[in-house]
Amino acid sequence: MIRTEFFTGPALAEQIAPLSALRIAVFREWPYLYDGTMASEQGFMAGFAATNGAGIAIAFDGDHAVGASTCLPMTEEDDHVKAPFLAAGLDPARFCYFGESVLLSPYRGQGIGLKFFELREAHARAMPGVTTATFCAVQRPLLHNLRPANAVPLDNFWRKRSYLPTDLSCNMQWKQIDSDDKVPNTLRFWMKSL
Ligand SMILES: CC(C)(COP(=O)(O)OP(=O)(O)OC[C@H]1O[C@@H](n2cnc3c(N)ncnc32)[C@H](O)[C@@H]1OP(=O)(O)O)[C@@H](O)C(=O)NCCC(=O)NCCS
Repeated sequence: MIRTEFFTGPALAEQIAPLSALRIAVFREWPYLYDGTMASEQGFMAGFAATNGAGIAIAFDGDHAVGASTCLPMTEEDDHVKAPFLAAGLDPARFCYFGESVLLSPYRGQGIGLKFFELREAHARAMPGVTTATFCAVQRPLLHNLRPANAVPLDNFWRKRSYLPTDLSCNMQWKQIDSDDKVPNTLRFWMKSL
């Protein structure tokens, strides 16, 4: 039996340790291809643990964390994430930014991803001034030598949860499993009015 719990504040800081290992394992796969290490995760983890208003949903199989999903006020995000919103005349204070959702593949298709959205949306609705949830997803060309033949895009999963793609995008760099160094990636923002 899988249970999913949501943590904020000091409880979040105590619970986030498994997030790095989950990010490294799940983002190594298509479409993120992230060649992460515990060392490369340190800065992100320290920053996230200290973020005002952050929340994390964690799925547990017994005592073992098998998935996690994060959110935070957009105002607390890095400048390169806020930049496209500011350039479009959108006030970051209206947005809750949903970070990663990472679930080990044996646990997919059981409604845990849906639960991640419900818990984060409830947290976002309680944020003063926030009207909209947003997240971004990496853009990959249709023809890519690392795309698995059975890869299913998450677009329909997101649309069914009433998220729509926007014209906004940002750039993030990470070392990929097919690169020697960090490479820039474009991520498109999706949004839902709460
Ligand atoms: C995104 C991710 C967390 C989704 O997780 P998931 O648990 O498989 O998602 P769900 O099971 O909630 O939804 C998948 C489908 O299974 C269905 N489902 C199956 N069993 C279900 C159950 N018992 N209860 C509810 N829904 C169920 C859902 O309805 C959904 O179908 P739909 O979209 O047609 O409605 C997971 O795919 C993942 O980790 N992907 C890799 C990383 C990634 O790309 N993350 C997103 C960007 S950060």
